[in-house]
Parts: sequence; C-alpha cells; structure tokens
Amino acid sequence: MTRPTTQLEELVTCLLRTHHVTTRILLDEASLVLAAIVASAPRRCPAPITTLRRTFAYFRDDLLAHLRTEERAVFPYIEQLALALASGGDPPRAVFHSLTSPVQVMRNEQEGTRLAMSRLDADFLAARRAHRPQDPTWVELADILERLAVDLAEHVRIEQDELFPAAVAAEERLSRLHAPPPSALDPHAPTLTMRRR
Ligand SMILES: [Fe+2]
Ligand SMILES: [Fe+2]
Repeated sequence: MTRPTTQLEELVTCLLRTHHVTTRILLDEASLVLAAIVASAPRRCPAPITTLRRTFAYFRDDLLAHLRTEERAVFPYIEQLALALASGGDPPRAVFHSLTSPVQVMRNEQEGTRLAMSRLDADFLAARRAHRPQDPTWVELADILERLAVDLAEHVRIEQDELFPAAVAAEERLSRLHAPPPSALDPHAPTLTMRRR
C-alpha cells in the first residue's frame, strides 16, 4: 500500500509537472491564435471579437494567479506536511490556522474558473459568427480551448477529490500527534498519580 505522505508528494509533482505546465502552454497558444485572429479582423474590430479578447484576458490572468498561489503557498505547505509526517517532525508553520481555509479559497477559485470557461465558450461562438467563421484560425482556437477544458477538468478533479482531502487529513493527523496532553492544558485535570489513589 502506498504511504499517504508519498501519495501527497506524488500528487503535487503530477500536478506541477503535467497540468500546471499544460495549462500555461495552452494559454500561450490561445493568446497567439487570438492575436492572429485580431490581426486578420477589419480595422474596426467586430465587437464580439473585442469581447472575446477581454474575456480571455481575464480568464488567463485569474487562472495564472490561481496556479501561482498553489505553487508558492498551498503546495509547498502540503509538501512540508508530508515531510513532517514521514520524519516525525513538527507541523509546518503557516500564516493560516488550518489548511481548510486556503483549500476553500482554491475550491471557490476553481468554481470561478469553471464559470469563466463557460463564458469564454459563449464569447468564442459569438466572435466566430461575427467574422469569417470558416477561417482555420477559429478551428485552431476551438481545438486549444477544448484541450484546455479537458485538461482543466482532470486537473481540478485531482485537486478537489484527491489532493485536498488527503492533505487536510494529513494536517489533522499531524496536529493530533503533536497535541499537548490534557494535563498540559487543564491544571485541574487528574494526573496519573492522582488517578492511582
Ligand atoms: Fe492546480
Ligand atoms: Fe487549483
């Protein structure tokens, strides 16, 4: 059986090396294709294309900020949790009281990404209808957005269904292991000596 700490490390590594990399590559590709579409549009760009550009810029910026938060704060903390459990060391220090707080923020942001993806799809269809819908660049952009949606679905599934629950459980286990004995918290709690009498 895989040790829980190894599982945490493997999940973080998988997310960083595959899904975070893929997301950035596909966002860059979509930016380039979208720029080509804008360049081929008439001087006065059709309004739906301007809207698509804006929607995509918000989507990309929010998603990249989400990845950075995970890479700089959430994942390093989870890796330290795994290390502490494996080595018997102290729980890692954090600016938050419990991992459940940043995990809830990540879940909220992922829901925001899901909604933004729907908006992006709708704006894509409107923009394509407005300007040379048979142009191959639209087909290319549709393919990139489809690959991004498929990859994001698996990315979010791993985080929400596997990594976050396992990391929260690991943090709880570690805090139980390092919890002070009841006598250290309550001066009136019976000691072993008192109980023997
Ligand atoms: Fe992620
Ligand atoms: Fe995420």
